[in-house]
Formats: sequence, structure tokens, C-alpha cells
Amino acid sequence: MHPVDRLIVGFDTALRTLAGVHRGTRASPADGIAEAELDAAARDAAAALMRVNHVGEVCAQALYQGQALTAREPGNRAALERAAGEEEDHLVWSARRIEELGGRTSLLNPLWYAGSFALGAAAGALGDRWSLAFLAETEHQVEEHLAGHLRRLPAGDARTRAVVEAMRIDEMKHRDSAIALGAAELPAIAKAAMRVMARVMTTVSHRI
Ligand SMILES: [Fe+2]
Ligand SMILES: [Fe+2]
Repeated sequence: MHPVDRLIVGFDTALRTLAGVHRGTRASPADGIAEAELDAAARDAAAALMRVNHVGEVCAQALYQGQALTAREPGNRAALERAAGEEEDHLVWSARRIEELGGRTSLLNPLWYAGSFALGAAAGALGDRWSLAFLAETEHQVEEHLAGHLRRLPAGDARTRAVVEAMRIDEMKHRDSAIALGAAELPAIAKAAMRVMARVMTTVSHRI
């Protein structure tokens, strides 16, 4: 694809992500699982955690778009686009689950999207090895984060848990594929900085 076409596709993704119009391809892992009887507090708690996860998926869209624009290796680009498609499923699944729980998505989504897009493009500018390194570490931290949510979600909320678990498995796959494509190993300081940023993002989006 010509760089300008890729830019247009990226812009289209941005608009669809922010407007909540998505083309998920895989059925939600929650399909076919009975809705649990949750009290109001449990529903709110689950919705808040899913709002954080939805923000993570908005950022994943932006990150993958930023990377796809800069990826030099055509083979890498194809793999990134495949993972980006799975991230779009995650976006759809988490948005739908928030709705079912009576919650709302983050009001700051445009901000999260813009920040992640810039980071993805900046990492991409450093070359494929480093942009893949950034991606692999992001996926790793998201996977850990989702594992934490599985411990915090209401025990009986099987629908939410099914979504989070399926996303966690995909994120592990995405990390492995970034490493297989030749990701460098990020310096510890960069990983630590990413954790700090993630902490800010998750803390804020848990509320707003
Ligand atoms: Fe994801
Ligand atoms: Fe992922």
C-alpha cells in the first residue's frame, strides 16, 4: 500500500475507534455464557475494570496503526496488521461488555488514542527492531495487567472473565509474534517508564 493510502486507512481506524464503530470478526468469548446475578457494586466494579481494558484496546489500535505506518519490512507489516485485527475484536468485545454491565467507556479516549499513536510512530521511527521491542513489552505488560484483572473481577462474572481471558491469551500471542519478528530487548529503564505511564493511564481511566 502507498504510504498515503496507509495514512488514510489509519485515519479511518482512528475515527471508527473513537466513534465506537468497529468491524470485529470473531464472536465474543462471552457468547453463550449465562449472565451472572451481580449486585450493583459488583457490576460497577466490573464495568470500571472493563473501561480500563477498553482504553488499553483503544491504545492498541493507535499503537498498531502508528507502527503499521512506519514498519519497513513488508512481512512485519502483515503480521502487525493481523494482530491489529485481533485487537479490533478486543475493542468490540470490551465495549459490548461495558454496555451490558451498564457502564461507559472512557471520556478521554481521544487523548489516549492520540498519545499511543504518537508513541507507536515514534517507536516505529527508531526502526523495526525497536518498534517491535516496544510492542512486545506493551503486550507483555497488558497481559500481566489482564491477569491482575482476572484476580479482581467478581468471581461469578463469567461473561466478563471469558472476555478478559481470551484477550490475555491473544496478547501473549502478540508478544511472541513481535519477538519472532526480531524485536530487540528494551533497556530496563524504558520498561520501567512504560510501567509508570501505564499506571497513570489505568488509574485515570478507572474513574474517567
Ligand atoms: Fe488487545
Ligand atoms: Fe495485543
